[in-house]
Amino acid sequence: MVGAASKAFFQAISRSAVLKRLATRYGMAGERGFARRFIAGEDVEQVITAARAVEARGLAITLDYLGESVSSIAEAERATREYLDIIDRIVRAGIERNVSLKLSQLGVDHARELGARNLRRILEASAPHQFFVRIDMESSAYTDVTLDIFEEVWRDGLRNVGVVLQSALRRSPDDLRRVNAVGARIRLVKGAYLEPREVAWQRKTDVDAAYVQLAQALLREGTYPAFATHDPDMISAVKTYAGEYGVLRDRFEFQMLHGIRRDLQTSLAAEGYRVRVYIPFGREWFPYFMRRLGERPANVGFVIRGMLRDW
Ligand code: FDA
Repeated sequence: MVGAASKAFFQAISRSAVLKRLATRYGMAGERGFARRFIAGEDVEQVITAARAVEARGLAITLDYLGESVSSIAEAERATREYLDIIDRIVRAGIERNVSLKLSQLGVDHARELGARNLRRILEASAPHQFFVRIDMESSAYTDVTLDIFEEVWRDGLRNVGVVLQSALRRSPDDLRRVNAVGARIRLVKGAYLEPREVAWQRKTDVDAAYVQLAQALLREGTYPAFATHDPDMISAVKTYAGEYGVLRDRFEFQMLHGIRRDLQTSLAAEGYRVRVYIPFGREWFPYFMRRLGERPANVGFVIRGMLRDW
């Protein structure tokens, strides 16, 4: 299947140190660097400018300071401090207070407790400023630890936090019931990672069918769910079911990635739906960028054209 093959290919080359060095050098260089379509910038000032432009279009935002799989306590500490600083800068900039992060960026690979402690620090610092913090979902190796840590902080009364579930995973209907039971917010995605057959649906039709089932359950029983997809079929299934089930447009939102289907973002907002744009930034953009290429091999043509133009 093309989808799985391209995910596998880009996942494999995303581990290439040489490619990473080259891409990092050229991808964001100048105004027209080839990664700029997906990455808003490398520093906070650039992402704040991008966020203001998105808000000016009548859309909501979430900012993602890119980084994942840090391998030392020092790196996890640095990422956490950077997030704390970003929170401060967002408050001062007066843009919407909503961030997305990954537990592997906060050190969960090094030690579970390190990841949990750093998440807690970010939630505690951001709660008084009414931030919402979304824990992105990484590969299936992280599903248990992510949901467990989420439940821990929720039990301790930190409520400015939500999670992500992937329709590709066979386990997601159970996870959805588990998260719905505490009344937390879920972002539903298809899933960006290459996963083995034992844990994940392999065919697009199965992933899509699961997405629709989970979306309907969220519209019935969820707490302000977010439907993160650019797929017009998924979007139309959500709209239809929300209409039939009488779910008002301010009880859920759509989410899309910076640089993808801007037209759809704008038209949904014009129809009165809430739309949030996920805006990634930072120097560690290479793995995120590779996942975007893997989702749509046609993007490679776009990147190569950009590189040729630059050279
Ligand atoms: P699908 O892949 O079927 O694409 C539908 C259409 O969307 C395509 O035909 C094309 O037009 C457009 N499109 C999709 N991807 C594109 C791309 N890269 N470039 C250009 N066009 C593209 N995943 C995850 O595992 N954990 C997470 O935490 C998140 N978080 C997240 C947040 C938000 C806001 C979004 C939108 C997505 C995620 N994802 C994610 C990624 C998600 O799992 C999925 O890989 C992508 O959204 C692509 O799937 P679609 O639902 O868009 O459908």
